[in-house]
Amino acid sequence: MPAGSHPVADRQAPDGSPYPDRTRASFEHDVRAMFTHIARGYDWFDHLASLGNDLLWRPRALWDLDRFRDGRPVRRVLDVGCGTGDLTRLTARHYPAAQVVGVDFTRAMLTIADERTRHEPVAPRVGFGEASVIRLPFHDGCFDVASSAFVVRNIPRLGDAFRELRRVLAPGGTLLTLEITEPANPRVGRLFHQYFDRVVPWLGAMVHSAGPYRYLPESLRHLPDRAGMIALLRECGFDPVTAAPQSGGIVTSYLAGVNGAAGAVVKAPRAPA
Ligand SMILES: C[S@@+](CC[C@H](N)C(=O)[O-])C[C@H]1O[C@@H](n2cnc3c(N)ncnc32)[C@H](O)[C@@H]1O
Repeated sequence: MPAGSHPVADRQAPDGSPYPDRTRASFEHDVRAMFTHIARGYDWFDHLASLGNDLLWRPRALWDLDRFRDGRPVRRVLDVGCGTGDLTRLTARHYPAAQVVGVDFTRAMLTIADERTRHEPVAPRVGFGEASVIRLPFHDGCFDVASSAFVVRNIPRLGDAFRELRRVLAPGGTLLTLEITEPANPRVGRLFHQYFDRVVPWLGAMVHSAGPYRYLPESLRHLPDRAGMIALLRECGFDPVTAAPQSGGIVTSYLAGVNGAAGAVVKAPRAPA
């Protein structure tokens, strides 16, 4: 990103990096400033901070999606908060007959998504655009699948986002929401918090991103737990809804159908510790 084109965040960490605060009116602007700040290093830091597990989580989420959809064809997919486009490209490879659109509200992330996709065999079936998940520029019912990976913890009015995603899904469509969650086992939970609340922010500070990687564990505390997330998805009109924990519950794929779509229950959600 050229100097001078970074949006300035309302709150900053001592190293000058954006540190979004969800109680401030500038929150959405600051989340964008934060992703602009970390865009170039996002992928490798994601692999490092997740100890490479993120490379398994997205494919596994698509596998959960297939089981949930029970063989229904997938022709049009929307990936919201697509970032650098990892899940978008993976989805295009996974469904070779599908057109896949990735949207994000951070231009710097979309620039990288475009660069990474341009020379891939899936490029003719993939498009990217700038949009917020709260106001999607699509007609009602135009997608078979909508997905998001590691996005929802940044959205303050999650119900509005889920209702908007439901609006653009066709009858029989499915929403896949992949997010970091509280591990079900308390011992795994303690280890997870030691690492996530202490080591990850320290690693972030090493790369002049103290704010973003302090914000990361904080943002998760504002998300509903698995049962709460399932209840919210139902409230927003999805049915059936299920949760498939991965890696001991460190991440969860939430699957939500429109108008009684499919619904092979992947795995019963366990109560968080
Ligand atoms: C942690 S990154 C995840 C990127 C990608 N989905 C992945 O799996 O790597 C979160 C992305 O969501 C985007 N985002 C956050 N809130 C958004 C919103 N309300 N509308 C659109 N994009 C949003 C950010 O700009 C960022 O690129």
